[in-house]
Amino acid sequence: MPNVEIFEVGPRDGLQNEKHLIPVSDKVALVNCLSGAGFRRIEVASFVSPRWVPQMADSADVLAQITRTDGVRYAALVPNLRGFEAAVNARADEVAIFASASEGFSRANLNCSVSESLERFVPVADAARLAGIPVRGYVSCVTDCPFDGAVVPDDVVRVVAALRDMGCYEISLGDTLGRATPERIAAMLGAVSQEMPADRLAGHYHDTGGRALENIDASLEFGLRVFDAAVGGLGGCPYAPGASGNAATESVHAWLLARGWQTGLDHDVLNAAAQMAQAMRKGNT
Ligand code: HMG
Ligand code: MG
Repeated sequence: MPNVEIFEVGPRDGLQNEKHLIPVSDKVALVNCLSGAGFRRIEVASFVSPRWVPQMADSADVLAQITRTDGVRYAALVPNLRGFEAAVNARADEVAIFASASEGFSRANLNCSVSESLERFVPVADAARLAGIPVRGYVSCVTDCPFDGAVVPDDVVRVVAALRDMGCYEISLGDTLGRATPERIAAMLGAVSQEMPADRLAGHYHDTGGRALENIDASLEFGLRVFDAAVGGLGGCPYAPGASGNAATESVHAWLLARGWQTGLDHDVLNAAAQMAQAMRKGNT
């Protein structure tokens, strides 16, 4: 039985940053391969403005064409009610709402302040509860913001508490810029875990500074057991200049196994998916 879960975000957080438009059939092939690797949750889509993130404009087609595997939940990011309704129509199994701990990134990513974004998410969370759809929350910039610099833990705590109060079943803590250190992750988790128990938190660490795996270690010590990762180390955020991809799923998997954790993932299928993802990045498919 897995005792640490990797939440695969490559088809969304990874691919959203690719400049060349990737065909739906390639995205579907990647998701289908990942479905065979043993993930319980895969983020495959994003119902945001196509003007803001053109790569995700075909999200409904991706969700319509994938082969759904029993026991896998296919997730979608939604910025507002319109996105939520599109995700429901496309039969997303769960949705994610996403706020920032810092004002600069909130403006760049959502074109509004942190408090305005939280107000906008309340009706989304209410609609999801009525529809019986689980809602995951993201907090970006939990240690550093590309625009505002260092972020203090209290600012993360406030957003975590708001998302928790909206009913998010889990909150994913994003080192969007990928510059965090284990010490700063520990300081942030020390504050956040006062508001939300560690078994309802996930680590979402981009790897710009090459310390994502150590940040996972620091988080394991706090009791976190879910980590977001992108197969092939794809991605970044188009609204976080200077940020690189998420920790690569295959590296996180190997790192966890070497420390005696179980992920329940199939090594060979994972490597096949990683090769597929890297070929898509280069436009080689
Ligand atoms: P806005 O320009 O302030 O709002 O954008 P708007 O209401 O004027 O909408 C702009 C256009 O988008 C309009 O179309 C709307 O109709 C349309 P136009 O009149 O220009 O033709 N629109 C939509 N279209 C499709 N689906 C929708 C939707 N909503 C509006 N749901 C908005 C505000 C929130 C829409 C915009 O800022 C947006 O889409 N932002 C999303 C940015 C994004 O996706 N960023 C990447 C994901 S976040 C991330 O990667 C971080 C994470 O990984 C964690 C971490 O690493 O930290 C999660
Ligand atoms: Mg991210």
